[in-house]
Amino acid sequence: MLILNKTAGVFSKPSKRNMYEFLRSFNFHPGKLFLHKLVLGIETSCDDTAAAVVDETGNVLGEAIHSQTEVHLKTGGIIPPVAQQLHRENIQRIVQEALSASKVSPSELSAIATTIKPGLALSLGVGLSFSLQLVDQLKKPFIPIHHMEAHALTIRLTNKVEFPFLVLLISGGHCLLALVRGVSDFLLLGKSLDIAPGDMLDKVARRLSLIKHPECSTMSGGKAIEHLAKQGNKLHFDFKPPMQHAKNCDFSFSGLHHIIDKMIMQKEKEEGIEKGQILSSAADIAAAVQHTVACHIAKRTHRAILFCKQRDLLCQSNAVLVVSGGVASNLHIRKALEIVTDATQCTLLCPPPRLCTDNGVMIA
Ligand code: KG4
Ligand code: ZN
Repeated sequence: MLILNKTAGVFSKPSKRNMYEFLRSFNFHPGKLFLHKLVLGIETSCDDTAAAVVDETGNVLGEAIHSQTEVHLKTGGIIPPVAQQLHRENIQRIVQEALSASKVSPSELSAIATTIKPGLALSLGVGLSFSLQLVDQLKKPFIPIHHMEAHALTIRLTNKVEFPFLVLLISGGHCLLALVRGVSDFLLLGKSLDIAPGDMLDKVARRLSLIKHPECSTMSGGKAIEHLAKQGNKLHFDFKPPMQHAKNCDFSFSGLHHIIDKMIMQKEKEEGIEKGQILSSAADIAAAVQHTVACHIAKRTHRAILFCKQRDLLCQSNAVLVVSGGVASNLHIRKALEIVTDATQCTLLCPPPRLCTDNGVMIA
């Protein structure tokens, strides 16, 4: 309950609502007075503690984030109780920073929106209990948010995108293709049958000990693979994209991961090195892995676009594919998706990198 007491400490002082604050909560338009709605968004579903204040027109007034990546890189993956503890240590500061940056006092908020699912239960719990305490204290409405819906809709903050559009979410914890028909109207077209692509890239990077590579030591697994891949030759290894004959839009990365693992073991034998040392062929392996993942993602997405077009689920002339999630920042994967969207006369849109990964803005 430490976190709740801390929260109470910060927000219990009643803020003095002076004339300036009062006027600032109104937006003046010629001839009409318009009340500005301000929403505080809180995100703790995985390993980022994030908060933001957004107004009803989509202006981001303030945001703050604390990433746990560095800690989880050292332990070789996310340990849920560790993530929970780090969220507890940071949530109050992050919410306070977002509010301070936005120059909005807690009493001015119209509502508090928080991720309630999906995610790591222990991490979600920190954001939820913090928010419920705040909601109770400030007597504000609470808006429960579905993390994936928030990811899917984020593009509408930066681009004018009409419904319906297709969304591809690819990260360390997500892998899905969905048709977005409205704010809370989604048709799931495909998902990973096992692990997400970012999870696989993180596992391969760990197996290759890329954290010991001088150029990659502070990078996430996926970023390290992308970085090394630039120095490698993707044709030196021939991994086949999974599910080539599956007549659906699902994904799978576990089988490919297993094949790559076996191949790394064989290379270690050939090069006469121990597990934990860096292979001389690491860059070639990174390039081939990245390319195979890109091909798999692009092929499944191609099927989804064709399916939607055949059934008139997407606009024939101006269909939009939105790609988001940490893996969407990979330029080789984006290039593969661009080939698909060019061939199907679709527009490819990606939110800016800071909005692709987990953040408070998408929740607000
Ligand atoms: O969206 P995100 O920050 O968190 C969630 O997983 O929800 O995504 C993190 C994932 C990690 O698996 C990381 O390795 C991967 O995105 N990633 C990348 C790149 N940057 C981050 N994967 C491929 N290429 C990148 N440049
Ligand atoms: Zn996410």
